[in-house]
Amino acid sequence: MAISTDCSTIPYDWYFDPAVARLEQERIFRRTWQYAAHTGELSEPGSFVSTRAGNVPVVIVRGRDNELRAFVNVCRHRGYLLCDGAGKRETLQCPYHAWTYDLDGSLRSAPRSELEPGFDRENLGLVPMLVDTWGPFVFVNPDTTAGTLAEHLGDLPRIVAEGGVDVDALAFYQRFEVEYDANWKVCVENYLECYHCAIAHPSFSKAIDVAPGTYALEEYPTFSTQFGPPKNGGGGIYDATGEIDRGQFHLLFPGTTLNVMPGRGNFSIGPVIPVGNERTYRFLDYFFLPDTDPQWIADYLELDTQVGGEDRVLVERVQVGMRSGIVTAGTLMPESERLIGHFERLLVDALGADG
Ligand code: FES
Ligand SMILES: [Fe+2]
Repeated sequence: MAISTDCSTIPYDWYFDPAVARLEQERIFRRTWQYAAHTGELSEPGSFVSTRAGNVPVVIVRGRDNELRAFVNVCRHRGYLLCDGAGKRETLQCPYHAWTYDLDGSLRSAPRSELEPGFDRENLGLVPMLVDTWGPFVFVNPDTTAGTLAEHLGDLPRIVAEGGVDVDALAFYQRFEVEYDANWKVCVENYLECYHCAIAHPSFSKAIDVAPGTYALEEYPTFSTQFGPPKNGGGGIYDATGEIDRGQFHLLFPGTTLNVMPGRGNFSIGPVIPVGNERTYRFLDYFFLPDTDPQWIADYLELDTQVGGEDRVLVERVQVGMRSGIVTAGTLMPESERLIGHFERLLVDALGADG
């Protein structure tokens, strides 16, 4: 027995089926631009940072020539994860058997390789991927044949600039990390509607006007946007008055969220990453203008933490509900949840690529 309706979501088993998860890695996460790091971690020649693009471990390195390069963070010998954390290096040496790579990814030396007559050092460099920046934000794409970051971002930098944020003026403040017992799409779809805000996020709804007609939704080829002005001119849980007169919440497909709250110069950005069929890892990098009042930042972060905790309950209970096996899909509200429909169309298109 299958129960579904006209305005159905994608099937619920897509939210836990390992075959779908595998296809998403192959056709989405290995082929798209994703936020991975910020330039503050990569300021000097020799700086490196390990990160990920979906399930692909990534290391981003600033070379001696000052160029940023990104590689699959996997030793070409027998698969050891090459780099951990962030720091500064002269070379990238694998801790397992000491194969040593130059900062440009080429294999410089491998102990005892002179005893192996056929050893093909030239072809054993780290596997490269695309890397590019927008302001302080570093993006990677494992697919070296993909289009440019600028193409993927489309109108997003213009919209952010018009909203009063100069991304080049932002300073990194802190990273927040979290894991959820839910499929990554549950997390993304929860992010994409504010239909739940009035009931599930009372504090957020005191600060932001979430009423239909005021809270605006827009769709673009590679991302979607929610605009939320402050409520009652900015009173409430934190001071929402300042140079930014309305909030912007963007989802860059597949899973990079970009957030601007009304008030002082602020920005947060980070990926939603599947780490299991029913497990999601997120990190969010917070940026502010360098001279922003610390108390304002503290109030803003308190609200964000509160909203995050409320969202955890929502996504984890949805994940359990999706496994009933009897209710096999959800029902979308075509207006209020328009951006979920947009996301699911992008998802289906991407999964269907190559038939
Ligand atoms: S796995 Fe890296 S040197 Fe052996
Ligand atoms: Fe929420």
